[in-house]
Amino acid sequence: MDQETTPVLDAIERYRRDDHYTFALPGHRLGRGIDDRTAAVLGRDAFEADVIMAKEAASDAEALLAEAVGARQAVFTTCGSSISIHTAMLTVTGPGKKILVDRNVHKSVVASLILAGAEPVWLRPRWDAENQIAHPASADDVAAALREHRDLSAALMITPTEYGTGADVEGIADLCHRYGIPLLVDEAWGAHFPFHPAMPTAAIKAGADLVVQSLHKADGGLCQASVILVGGHLVDPVDLRLRLDLITTTSPSALLYGSIDGFRRRMVQEGRELLEAAIKRTNDLRKHLAGVPRLQVIDESIIGHDSVAEWDPMKLCVDVSGLGLTGYQARDWLEERHRLTAQLGDSRRLIFSLTYSDDDAAFERLRGALDDLAENPPQPDRSAPRIPPLQELDLEQAMNPRDAYFAETEQVSDPVGRIAAEMISPYPPGVPAILPGERFDDAVVTYLRSGLEAGMILPDASDPKLETFRVVTREAERPLR
Ligand SMILES: Cc1ncc(COP(=O)(O)O)c(C=O)c1O
Repeated sequence: MDQETTPVLDAIERYRRDDHYTFALPGHRLGRGIDDRTAAVLGRDAFEADVIMAKEAASDAEALLAEAVGARQAVFTTCGSSISIHTAMLTVTGPGKKILVDRNVHKSVVASLILAGAEPVWLRPRWDAENQIAHPASADDVAAALREHRDLSAALMITPTEYGTGADVEGIADLCHRYGIPLLVDEAWGAHFPFHPAMPTAAIKAGADLVVQSLHKADGGLCQASVILVGGHLVDPVDLRLRLDLITTTSPSALLYGSIDGFRRRMVQEGRELLEAAIKRTNDLRKHLAGVPRLQVIDESIIGHDSVAEWDPMKLCVDVSGLGLTGYQARDWLEERHRLTAQLGDSRRLIFSLTYSDDDAAFERLRGALDDLAENPPQPDRSAPRIPPLQELDLEQAMNPRDAYFAETEQVSDPVGRIAAEMISPYPPGVPAILPGERFDDAVVTYLRSGLEAGMILPDASDPKLETFRVVTREAERPLR
């Protein structure tokens, strides 16, 4: 195929050039209907590109992306990786079926379990006590789970994590295939991985059967642009299309599709050079920070720790606890003092997601701000939340997530011992600390309440102040079989 072409961008251009006028949708008529205020902020160009697009344009662009990354098929979606994950999970599992799932998942996976009515068999992440972060489960953990649960419909891994540590996807895909089940990989941060050898091995090349990627996270797509890649022959692509059709919009955005189309062409043409330069800039900055007193960075030596098989060099993790600060406070300070936004601030670290779009000036600005932080740290204004050992957060799955979610519920101030009917996910990255069907223990309640005090963002809690929690009423509790 000719990777120079851009079928979606061409279709948008053709539509405009042909003096087309629509009496269908969208009603703004290429922006004629918007006012100057809207145009001043959003730009008339965006509306001029917001056209209804021929289906073939999208399928040609999907075929080009599939070829470029070595997939059997690619499917574009327009509601972020969340809808791609729902689609992928509804394709491989369903009511009453079991699925092996990394517990370190994004909340969209939990929502998919609720939608599908599937039963999770949790794979516990590996706790790295030295670095105080969780890594994806190892191939050995997956092998043990596959031996124990012979009735699994599929397995799902999230890799790399928000800290950039990745699983042995190749080994895990091999294991899943030996048991005849497909492997889904949430690779939301890795749409560029196929385009440079120093990036983590792209899951689609490592043998995964379904791979979900957000194009807007570390790549060049507009927000909500996402793709599902299909590999191997364990997943029926027709099933996948039918499931997507069930839950997605009937009016996909040409703007979003066009941004995926343009990103693919750019990566094929110049991805290697762009990523090479980006890795060099990041490594230079990392090396500099390693020499700054009281800051610590994670580097490639993390590979081999516990289950870490891969590492994303574009994630810059800076430990600020040596300054007496939490990552939450350091994140707020960076925003206020330097107008810089980190991807994540946690109890002790700042995590920056660096991309090929960050130029020398952006790197210089970040370096200056972190030097300033190390030389002139603010007075600590909050205590770090108590992070319990990971084992204490291994909550009992007492009820099926869907049953708990739809059960009769009540709000209680002391939820310890009760079954959750809600998800509470520190954001970012949006990994639920507790999810429907899990039993609250003391550790998770203390972690969430002290985290909130320290600045943790909990957007999905039923009570944003965490004075109460939503639990299943005692009468409605239905123990897992
Ligand atoms: C690992 C992971 N998977 C899935 C998602 C959902 O992606 P989206 O926001 O594109 O729906 C996120 C979002 O933060 C994520 O970090």
